[in-house]
Amino acid sequence: MIDLEKIEKKIIKEKKILRDKSQNYNNNFLNIKKYIEKEIINIEELKKNNLNIIPEINLNDLESNSEKFITEVKNRGCVVIRDVFEDSMMKKMNTELETYIEENNYYEDQKKKANIDNYFSDLKSGKPQIFGLYWSKTQVNIRQSLELEKVKKWLNHLWQYKDNNNDLIFDPNNELVYADRVRRREPGDSTLGLSPHCDAGSVERWIDKGYQSVYGKIFSDDFENYDPFNATFRNTTQMIESPAVSHVFRTFQGWVALTEQGPGDGTLQLIPIAKSMAYILTRALMDDVDESNLCDSKPARALSINSKYHALLLRGLVSIPKMKPGDTVWWHPDIVHAVEDMHSGQGYSNVVYVGSTPYCKKNLEYSKKQAQKFLEGKSPPDFAPEDYEVSYKNRATLDDLTSLGKKQLAL
Ligand SMILES: [Fe+2]
Repeated sequence: MIDLEKIEKKIIKEKKILRDKSQNYNNNFLNIKKYIEKEIINIEELKKNNLNIIPEINLNDLESNSEKFITEVKNRGCVVIRDVFEDSMMKKMNTELETYIEENNYYEDQKKKANIDNYFSDLKSGKPQIFGLYWSKTQVNIRQSLELEKVKKWLNHLWQYKDNNNDLIFDPNNELVYADRVRRREPGDSTLGLSPHCDAGSVERWIDKGYQSVYGKIFSDDFENYDPFNATFRNTTQMIESPAVSHVFRTFQGWVALTEQGPGDGTLQLIPIAKSMAYILTRALMDDVDESNLCDSKPARALSINSKYHALLLRGLVSIPKMKPGDTVWWHPDIVHAVEDMHSGQGYSNVVYVGSTPYCKKNLEYSKKQAQKFLEGKSPPDFAPEDYEVSYKNRATLDDLTSLGKKQLAL
């Protein structure tokens, strides 16, 4: 159980400490706000003129990308990588997943089980149509594919992954996999959206010592030199224990499109500003926010981005461009994201979630626990223990893993 009173006391104490890091926390916030305003105006202009906002690249061009492109990705904190898988292969995998769900009576199963996972319960639209499935062959084969290995290596290299002593914070060339769920949205659905949020910690981003070090420059008037892609301390953060909160360090969150989906089809939305966390963090130190409050962020929930405190940021929320089967989208763990409330399109909008979790002590510890769950067909440690798949037909087992797949699962 979470001791709310204890956390509120800690928030009051830590807010004082964080304010004291700055010469003048009001001016520090205003300086950050000025930067964010400029970015927002730029996004609004591009949006108005129907111009590309989220950087895009084809899998085959990854190796030959320019400095300019890398800078753009780092500034936006997100990227669309296209044609990672063949359309025909994705269609086959999508059908395979559909069969897995139907043959194993997932819908019946789900009705029977209580809603143990209330991670998203504070977000306006309630629980989305995300399936508590982790070990279908579709998911496992996507995760262990050579294509994703290539993509994740590239993504990991966007980070500064060595510390001041030149030691590896994580190994960008060796991936562990993070088993996550699938999203399958029916056309016409209006109940399954997700309001804007960040994962990887809510109040922890202010009160956890690891996060305070990650964001040190932001609080101490050195926003200009804060680099969201510097991994130092990112692997030292600690989460408040609760179901559905991520305990790994992800260089990027992401998904692979199984079906075609565009704006309006109940797809992903992002606020493409890598440094927007600085605004969220310092906003909570302003005097109009209660001493025990962090702009309505709650422990053991997703970090909430709301119109009461973050109206400026929300102006920058954009839907990702049209995705074809086999296209992928990736966003930095500090990037605010949402899922459109309404699916007004024609077909299912389906995705397989695939975070990038490179080899480091923290991720390896998690992977070892995750590997045990894989062998038993249970839900991974970060997720509510619904354990739907234990007796499912056609679940991926050890025999379905390639040697790369085994290594990535720490088996
Ligand atoms: Fe999320």
